[in-house]
Amino acid sequence: MTKIVNVAIVGGGLMGREIAAALQRWPALINHPVHPQLTAVCDINPPALDWFDQIPTVTRKVTDYADLLGDDAIDVLYVAVRHDLHRQLYVDTIQAGKSLLAEKPFGIDASAAAAIVAAASANPQSFVRCASEFPFFPGAQVAVNYVRSGALGRIIEARCSFLHASDLDVGKPINWKRQARYCGEAGVMNDLGLHTWHVPLRLGWTPDRIFGVLQDIVTERPAPNGGRERCDTWDNAVLHGWVNKESYSFPLTTAMKRIDPGEKNTWEFEALGLEGGVRFSTKNPKRVEVFSVVDVPGGGREQVWSSLDAGSQSVWPTVTGPNFESGFSDAILQMLAAFLAEREGALGDRFGCATPEEAALTHAIYDAAIRSHEAGEVVQVGG
Ligand SMILES: NC(=O)c1ccc[n+]([C@@H]2O[C@H](COP(=O)([O-])OP(=O)(O)OC[C@H]3O[C@@H](n4cnc5c(N)ncnc54)[C@H](O)[C@@H]3O)[C@@H](O)[C@H]2O)c1
Repeated sequence: MTKIVNVAIVGGGLMGREIAAALQRWPALINHPVHPQLTAVCDINPPALDWFDQIPTVTRKVTDYADLLGDDAIDVLYVAVRHDLHRQLYVDTIQAGKSLLAEKPFGIDASAAAAIVAAASANPQSFVRCASEFPFFPGAQVAVNYVRSGALGRIIEARCSFLHASDLDVGKPINWKRQARYCGEAGVMNDLGLHTWHVPLRLGWTPDRIFGVLQDIVTERPAPNGGRERCDTWDNAVLHGWVNKESYSFPLTTAMKRIDPGEKNTWEFEALGLEGGVRFSTKNPKRVEVFSVVDVPGGGREQVWSSLDAGSQSVWPTVTGPNFESGFSDAILQMLAAFLAEREGALGDRFGCATPEEAALTHAIYDAAIRSHEAGEVVQVGG
């Protein structure tokens, strides 16, 4: 009999619904050690709870998350709320002994992230990870495994980007994600940054110094009730870092953009070395490109970028045909599979969700980027 894990969602907005929908596809996973059951939902806005009526296992709908913390029947909370609320809700969840799949940026700033990490360290019965789904695309996994194999040789450079264009429309009304008091001083880095740092940090590529190029392109937007309001968050950020290996350093660039014309949720990873290279973009979600120098029939050697189709399989096997293609909701399912398998001690050496320490480290990187941008010079991370 598969073990049942009871899950509650706090925040029934965009991501709360995405996670709820992904949980309904659990039978697609083969031999997963647990079966999660979505039993409870919390949102301070009661109408937001109505959507969850279509999920028969949801038996509790509340408007105060504290009501869920004392419920012994709930094992795991997925919390998807505004960034200024992360610290309180995450720390309370952890201190109640519940496991937590948190949303990025894992606290609005470095001090909030530190408080959450401290709570997690003091309450080891609470298994805590932070959401970041793009590395769970099969093509991203091919790229990660390629790098881990050592096929790059000496690394020349690496890049990870997450790109949007939704804010190109200057008539788009303001929302909490575009206001520093709710989103955080780090702006777009808080919004999109963990997606670009999860893979580099997991590969051990922590930059020791950063040069930040930040842009606040649209400075006010229509307010929901008429008039205009300050839009005081960074729209675009490009971070140039240096990663130290034992005998050399290489540049690592991450780009986080809300205003990149034409882009819709494009996550890209590229790593180049003297002996090999690999590229993946969710723009062509099946394709992974691999670089090599090959012997050419008839003589000589040539540099070649070749491509392969990644298929459907990622971290946890599914019933989906291996030749079928994968998408955003598949990556969400794989992220949940990794989270709950790791909580059971069953993930092994497979790729997992971002740890509290990795998520907190991103805040030190964003702080360095802001200091660098203001000073116009390279600064030490954590300095
Ligand atoms: N992983 C991803 O790809 C991804 C994508 C978008 C957003 N996010 C993250 O998810 C989180 C939520 O973003 P969203 O887009 O779902 O936001 P959203 O605004 O669509 O939804 C947030 C919901 O939280 C509710 N809420 C507010 N305060 C609450 C409280 N105290 N208790 C319970 N519910 C409360 C709101 O009423 C709303 O329904 C943020 O941290 C954001 O950065 C992650």
